[in-house]
Amino acid sequence: MAAAGAAGVLLQGANRAVGLESANERPTFATIGLRNQGWAITSKSFRFADFAALADVDANVLGANVEKVAKAQGKKPDAYKDYRKVLERKDIDAVMIATPDHWHTKIAIEAMLAGKDVYCEKPLTLSIDEGKLIEKVVKSTGRVFQVGTMQRTESDQRFLLAVALIQNGRIGKVQKVTCGINGMEASPVIPETSVPEGLDWDFWLGPAPKVPYRALPEIRQGYGGGVPLYSNCHYSFRNWHEYSGGKLTDWGAHHVDIACWALGATDTGPSKITPVEFSLPVEYKDGHPLVGDRYNAATRFKISVEMPNDVELIITSEGDNGIMFEGTEGRFFVNRGKITGKPVEELKEKPLPDGAIEAVYGGKVSANHTANFIEGMKSRKQPISDVWSHNRMLEICHLSNIAMRLGRELKWDPVKREVSGDAQANSFLAREYRKGFEINS
Ligand SMILES: NC(=O)c1ccc[n+]([C@@H]2O[C@H](COP(=O)([O-])OP(=O)(O)OC[C@H]3O[C@@H](n4cnc5c(N)ncnc54)[C@H](O)[C@@H]3O)[C@@H](O)[C@H]2O)c1
Repeated sequence: MAAAGAAGVLLQGANRAVGLESANERPTFATIGLRNQGWAITSKSFRFADFAALADVDANVLGANVEKVAKAQGKKPDAYKDYRKVLERKDIDAVMIATPDHWHTKIAIEAMLAGKDVYCEKPLTLSIDEGKLIEKVVKSTGRVFQVGTMQRTESDQRFLLAVALIQNGRIGKVQKVTCGINGMEASPVIPETSVPEGLDWDFWLGPAPKVPYRALPEIRQGYGGGVPLYSNCHYSFRNWHEYSGGKLTDWGAHHVDIACWALGATDTGPSKITPVEFSLPVEYKDGHPLVGDRYNAATRFKISVEMPNDVELIITSEGDNGIMFEGTEGRFFVNRGKITGKPVEELKEKPLPDGAIEAVYGGKVSANHTANFIEGMKSRKQPISDVWSHNRMLEICHLSNIAMRLGRELKWDPVKREVSGDAQANSFLAREYRKGFEINS
């Protein structure tokens, strides 16, 4: 099943409680979590789908996005604070989930059980065991599931070209892959403060531990801006292990994904994860931060990962954002803006065989990542970013975080999907859910 995305394996037992009557029908969508990426994926999808409903626990975000969607599609979507109301509706074929990470698995599973196909943002999970749970429910419900790792479809097919170069032997045997995913700054102490009007803080926390809302007055500028620069809520959730996994799962979910895909390591995993250098912004004991008043995810890191076939995978906060592939016969670099190096220049004289990109993608490359999802909804084949390969590469990202939190190297058994001989590390494979927010699958 790991190769389902690329090979386009037909789903067994797909059984739609609701769904598309014909291959020409426009699907009806709803988006859950709208502020930054939720709007990005919604607005990218107007060409292909009608949005009947939106859900967000922040009334300000919800109101603003209802207006934007109404203007764009000429029809006002219904607005809900509670995503479960969206899942109850029989007219909705699929949901797009762009909440913070600590909600992804619970909402995705409930959506599948309610008969919806799912497009869920990366990183799909907050723990390795959540990945297994999602796989189980995708299988048992036969739902089509796209992960939001759109580098597989978009960025002018640069990443597809990278994978094709590797798979066509253009750098010989791959020896080393370096994923540059940037570091991040530590935060100052972030004081408790009153919850902004319109935000249901308890619902935002959901399955995460109940803690006070924290923010400093300074406002984030640029990408994701318009909210406090330092908080434990909108956008900044990335920097807290309670809600996310720092850069390792934010950008790691993109570049480690491409690295594993190129290496053909989509249904296996590493044997060893070594945190060579790293700095955590707060003191940790037994893998848990000792204070709760500032960011706690790693700020700088260099992780060395032993992959199958003697490939060393490096995940680092240093250097340019992108992926460097090095092999016995050359090397090249790829990121969202460029693909450079001798093997790329040599394509002028020695192009890849016809259909090499399509062979990587498993067919004609879709107009965008949503289009690929909808093609899957119609054919009932898993889309390009399938949950199985996503979970495998995300295991590397989660394990990197566990290794840094515990300050030691981890030996991983990719068959059993557990850390060998380290009960404490294995206790981090699952997470606790706040009472009332457990996952029933
Ligand atoms: N694919 C990409 O390149 C990409 C880019 C950016 C973000 N993302 C992912 O998208 C997700 C959201 O990131 P963001 O930057 O948009 O965060 P954000 O904090 O700006 O927005 C998240 C929104 O979800 C809402 N929300 C929280 N809990 C909810 C719930 N239970 N029901 C409904 N709404 C809820 C929040 O109120 C907020 O409006 C993250 O998982 C992130 O990793 C992916």
